[in-house]
Amino acid sequence: MTVQSASERPRFDLGSVAYGGDYNPEQWPEEIWPQDVALMREAGVNLVSLGIFSWARLEPRPGEYDFGWLDRIIGLLHEAGIRIDLATPTAAPPAWFQRANPHVRPVTVSGTVLGYGARQTYCPSSPEYAGAAARITTELARRYAGHPAVVLWHIHNEYGCHTSRCYCEQSVSAFRAWLADRYRTVEALNAAWGTAFWGQLYADFDEVDVPREAPAAANPSQQVDFRRFSSDALLECYRRERDIVRAADPSVPITTNFMAGLTDNLDLWQWAEEVDVVANDHYLTAAQKDNHINLSLSADLTRSLAGGRPWLLMEHSTSAVNWQGHNIAKRPGELARNSLAHLARGADGIMFFQWRASRNGVEKFHSAMVPHAGTDTRLWREVVALGARLGKLEEVCGTRVEAKAAIVWDWESRWNLDCGNKPSTDLGFRERLDAFYACLWHAGLTVDFVHPGADLSGYRLVLAPSMYVTSAAWAENLRGWVRSGGTLVSSYFTGIVDQNGAVHLGGYPGALRDILGVRTEEFLPLLPGQRVKLASEDPGIPAGSASRWAEDLRLDGAAAVLRHSEGPGAGRPAVTRHGFGEGTAWYLATAPDQSTLDAVLRAACADAGLALPVGRPAGVECVRRVGAGGDEFDFLINHTDQDVVVPLGGEQVTVPAGRVRVVVSTR
Ligand code: GAL
Repeated sequence: MTVQSASERPRFDLGSVAYGGDYNPEQWPEEIWPQDVALMREAGVNLVSLGIFSWARLEPRPGEYDFGWLDRIIGLLHEAGIRIDLATPTAAPPAWFQRANPHVRPVTVSGTVLGYGARQTYCPSSPEYAGAAARITTELARRYAGHPAVVLWHIHNEYGCHTSRCYCEQSVSAFRAWLADRYRTVEALNAAWGTAFWGQLYADFDEVDVPREAPAAANPSQQVDFRRFSSDALLECYRRERDIVRAADPSVPITTNFMAGLTDNLDLWQWAEEVDVVANDHYLTAAQKDNHINLSLSADLTRSLAGGRPWLLMEHSTSAVNWQGHNIAKRPGELARNSLAHLARGADGIMFFQWRASRNGVEKFHSAMVPHAGTDTRLWREVVALGARLGKLEEVCGTRVEAKAAIVWDWESRWNLDCGNKPSTDLGFRERLDAFYACLWHAGLTVDFVHPGADLSGYRLVLAPSMYVTSAAWAENLRGWVRSGGTLVSSYFTGIVDQNGAVHLGGYPGALRDILGVRTEEFLPLLPGQRVKLASEDPGIPAGSASRWAEDLRLDGAAAVLRHSEGPGAGRPAVTRHGFGEGTAWYLATAPDQSTLDAVLRAACADAGLALPVGRPAGVECVRRVGAGGDEFDFLINHTDQDVVVPLGGEQVTVPAGRVRVVVSTR
């Protein structure tokens, strides 16, 4: 199948903000369905995701189909004007499939064969699963292609969520084939994996195994290739179903729901190329302080995956989830605040898991749009109020969020950092990345995320806090961009290895040394709880303190901004700044305390010519969406318990405690 460019693909456009959720009518007697539909209309629901886990109901025995119930509910929804996001049900293979194919059950890294009774019980590389999934998808697509209510196809559910890496024999064969395709010769594989280390040289692809639990840590390159392979194996599953649906129903857009920023099993830069509209699921970690910052990050990442185009929030929760230690209910107003925060950052649809709270099963204590307690509830009233509010925001659809700053995000770095055996267990993909993101969030700067090889010309500031893997080409991308005037901020353990995981030699951070104007001879990680003082060498950045990390760093063109005055790095630069071509490159060779990190990132924004908002109360999120004709939608989201006054374009806008104001300025 030829790859369609983004502009050629079918577009998702309801003409208003999509509102609704996963609808599982098969869990309820049919008498409830008309009530459901009436309540959906009351709540302003205009889209539901249907059939996500319905394989066993649609194909109760192999090759025997029952679409009657689905026809009936689709008919009811259609009559009520509610559109359908129709799912292929392949995330829940039926019991008969498991019985006939016991060898298709996924196997864990330690060799445990996972049993039936949950969902996602399949090996992504199984030909039997591929065949069965293709058959039900073909039947479904044939039956509902062209149905006027079906406005979106939803392939599978959350690829890579429960079943992400399978270590069964079918996976071993598929992994070997994938490696043979990638490397062509086993010598090339040996070179890429550095198998001279620990005498792991392979003479044949058939000698290679998946990286199982082993006496010591498995070769990191083998581990990373297995993650690439596993992402690709799932992508093949997606493409197979997508292509079947596309052939049957070419004009209806197709998607699958990502979990951007929550799970990291898929290389979503690749996946995003394959969907017509990017869709995302996001759940708050209820007990986490300032969890709305994580929401913003996920939304910004999703928008970036969508190339700035509008996207769909396919799932979030109306209140508590059921899978965390303490499943804390959302407080009054939090539901709308969360939903509108996604809308602010580029979503054109706000959907929930799920419509009606289940009576049975694992998720019976998960919140829903219709709670167990029914409609005489605060939650239902908030659901209805949100629907009404979104109904008035249709002009937001299609507008864009503009960002002049970007953070490099790359699953290759994430997977390499996950391998362990690094200079400190404090090093992790999200550690610095979240610290940088939170700092900019508090400063009121909206950011995109970018792949390290992306065109950076639209950005004035690029942050690379966690770009451990840096290929020569990616370094060149940054080099050219800084030279022509960009401001780069990089943190420790960035630019360290190439895409095979081999260290760039000659001093750290090998790939970026010339851009940063520094050369590190040795890493000097700090111990947990160890805090060291930093002396200032720049009048703009006050002295502070730091934790986690230091380096035996030598200046090679850069100027020291802060210097360690104690600890293993005493006397060594901790933060540096380097003029490079027309641009500037900052390097943070430590984890500064909050106010120092703030000061450094503010100084970098100044270098980039980015004006940060002034006078904005703390804990207030302000994001702007802009229409093609210049209309502006300012979302002012008050995450505090106090009413606040936000300066906006010469006006003072009051935003009540915990509430959201959307200020519309039309041209
Ligand atoms: C999602 C999943 C839904 C539901 C939800 C509960 O990951 O797609 O089916 O399980 O979590 O929070």
